[in-house]
Amino acid sequence: MSFRPPEGFWKSFAQDVWGRQPRVFKKVFGERLLAPPEELFRISVEEAEEFSKVAGARVRPACQVFIDSGNIVSDSLRYMPRREDGSFEGWAARMRKLVGPRDFFFHMDSIQSRSSQLFESYRQFTEGMFEQLGLPPWKIDSDMFAGDYRETPFGVHKDVTGNFAFIAVGTKRMLLWPYESLLHLVPGRDVRDIDFALPLRTFAEIREQAIVLEGEPGDVFYWPGHFWHSAEGTDSVSVTNNLAVYLTPSPLVDTLPGLVAEKVNPPIDQTQPFIPYDPARRQELADAIPEGLRSATQQVVRGLRELVEGGLEREMELTWLRYVSGGGFLQGPRPASGAVLDENRSVRLVPQAGLVWRRLASGELAFAVNGQATCLPESRGLLEVLQRLSGGGAHRARALLDEAREERRGDTVVWSRERMRELLTTLLSQHALVHV
Ligand SMILES: [Fe+2]
Repeated sequence: MSFRPPEGFWKSFAQDVWGRQPRVFKKVFGERLLAPPEELFRISVEEAEEFSKVAGARVRPACQVFIDSGNIVSDSLRYMPRREDGSFEGWAARMRKLVGPRDFFFHMDSIQSRSSQLFESYRQFTEGMFEQLGLPPWKIDSDMFAGDYRETPFGVHKDVTGNFAFIAVGTKRMLLWPYESLLHLVPGRDVRDIDFALPLRTFAEIREQAIVLEGEPGDVFYWPGHFWHSAEGTDSVSVTNNLAVYLTPSPLVDTLPGLVAEKVNPPIDQTQPFIPYDPARRQELADAIPEGLRSATQQVVRGLRELVEGGLEREMELTWLRYVSGGGFLQGPRPASGAVLDENRSVRLVPQAGLVWRRLASGELAFAVNGQATCLPESRGLLEVLQRLSGGGAHRARALLDEAREERRGDTVVWSRERMRELLTTLLSQHALVHV
């Protein structure tokens, strides 16, 4: 069963709703939920368990807990969903014991990257929208909000995104205010093109003016990001999964800071000598730039040059492939570990995986499925098998392996039976190929 909305839904959405007004769509998929609470709970537990292995190492967690409006940093694991809670209701009951009457709120990023099921359902939902609107300039991404809280803990805010909220558990209420209506609360600047939270302790004083959206499981909210918004509690635990359509430009925004950091950060060297220091001879010190500082700066210059002259082009091409294959998502489901090709069976491409490929300027051949890109040396064999798989149908795995003719470039084997096996195994692990 697909999560494509009924015929005509996106056409009228694009004409009357997108970018204009908030809206509640009742039971878009009948009684079915795009993200069932069991799946949301499963990935929350999985994420908390993953996080427990690295908590304390100052990694940025993909999930956060707020108690009242404070972000719990040091012992957030206590408050995250656990397997033994059994459900969000079980988690909420434990939370009530832990925090008493205080508000509690759990948030998780990029949930589509944690579940093939969710990724697939979102893609079914969004394909028709992008056929009408076109693909957004940056990306789409989905997150989750769970808890029992009176107001969104980070306050009344606006985002540079288009927003959908799918209600999974409880009654959800969103308050919205048109952008212009609250500008008197914004201290002296135009914030239309940035994410911004109002400097208000509570929305109590503007509650009266709010547009109110209310929904039950199965309902979907939409609001343009330039509307100010906050959730309002309904005295029960609620869980929503949200889809954000980012409107700011450049899919490279996500990867660029990491790439720059990789190029400019010198390797940590704790044996670097200290610089002799005499406060009375400060001018002498200022005149003599230390060799270590000079060489570290040169390294930054070299790194940035490399990035600009080569790496960035490659990154752009790979990001574009990920984006196209992911239908706007830049983070698809994580590869499954331990995928093994069964030579005695046939394999078939999953059409929704969105297989695309491209010869990169670097001379490599890159292919992407489900928002993940892989680079391999270019070869005729690779190109042929990508074309064959994307043509559809089932292919006997052993026959594909037997047909792989070795190709070399110089001393390097660029295509072979083993390369074919690697490719098929990669596609299996990336949820793009299935045994039939
Ligand atoms: Fe928001």
